[in-house]
Amino acid sequence: MKRIAVLTSGGDAPGMNAAVRAVVRTAIYNNIDVYGVRRGFKGLIEGDLKKMNLSSVGDIIHKGGTILRSARCPEFKENPSCRELAIQLLNVFKIEGLVVIGGDGSFMGMKSLSDFGFPGIGIPGTIDNDLAYTDFTIGFDTAVNTALEAITNLRDTTSSHERVTIVEVMGRNCGDIALDAGLAGGAEAILVPEIGYNLKEISQKLINSNKRGKKQSIIVVAEGVGNLNEIANQIKELTDMDVRTTILGHVQRGGNPSAKDRILASEMGYHAVELLMEGKISRVVGVRENKIIDMNINEALAMQNKFNERRFEISKVLSI
Ligand code: ADP
Ligand code: F6P
Repeated sequence: MKRIAVLTSGGDAPGMNAAVRAVVRTAIYNNIDVYGVRRGFKGLIEGDLKKMNLSSVGDIIHKGGTILRSARCPEFKENPSCRELAIQLLNVFKIEGLVVIGGDGSFMGMKSLSDFGFPGIGIPGTIDNDLAYTDFTIGFDTAVNTALEAITNLRDTTSSHERVTIVEVMGRNCGDIALDAGLAGGAEAILVPEIGYNLKEISQKLINSNKRGKKQSIIVVAEGVGNLNEIANQIKELTDMDVRTTILGHVQRGGNPSAKDRILASEMGYHAVELLMEGKISRVVGVRENKIIDMNINEALAMQNKFNERRFEISKVLSI
């Protein structure tokens, strides 16, 4: 293998830069040329590729976002001629392998190129942690800590005003950010799409704890659960308490990556280049029980939900 390319795609995630740095430096260490594709698959079909060197990835390991930029490119998914064009351009640039850093959508994009026989390796970069084959995705740990800091701040004002604060966190259809930030933040209730909930029960719990003298409560809601205002209105009606809502939104996508995300990204980037050098075609990198692993993309994407129900039960017991 003489020349590879790397791109970041879908929602950005803290630690993507550390992964790009690892891919570029591992490739160069092994005498492989490496090109950065700007703005994901959109840049790929526009031929927006630039040769990278050791210093192109200097001073980025600690930075959130992605220096390669990211984009969603629906036409790449919908229009087969876009994928053919991508293969042609990769050939024009004499690229022999592609590393895609992104979520499950980006992995499907990579797979669509591998279906032409083109070697592609996926690195999971998304704050959502919604890929069942890997214990963690790059960016999740940082996002949880960002959400936790916000919940901690909200607790101060919630307590001063003896209110109920309902805070929505990201995660698309996955409740992992809500579960971890909620448990670490001592939330009185956590609502996730993976587990049914009963607002009457939750409200009764708030009323009971209020009678005991607990005057403030935090409820963490994963965005995939549904409409935050409807939930808040129902809780207000059922408890007659002073309720406020906060949507954390994209603040969770930014910020300096945590040590855990930087290390994960570095190890995954290194491993991805090794896989290309071994001639692997369509694999995704992950981490299981603290070991870096790789899997065939079809097997990986077929794996089912890994929601930590035991952790969820623990959070319920501890929030009484
Ligand atoms: P994420 O990677 O974070 O899940 P998206 O689902 O938005 O983000 O996917 C990112 C991009 O990957 C899409 O904009 C599109 O260009 C590409 N993509 C997604 N699904 C497919 C697919 N089935 N086939 C080809 N490309 C896809
Ligand atoms: O996949 C990451 C994510 O931040 C999700 O948690 C969220 O639902 C979505 O992306 C938001 O997408 P956008 O940045 O396009 O608004």
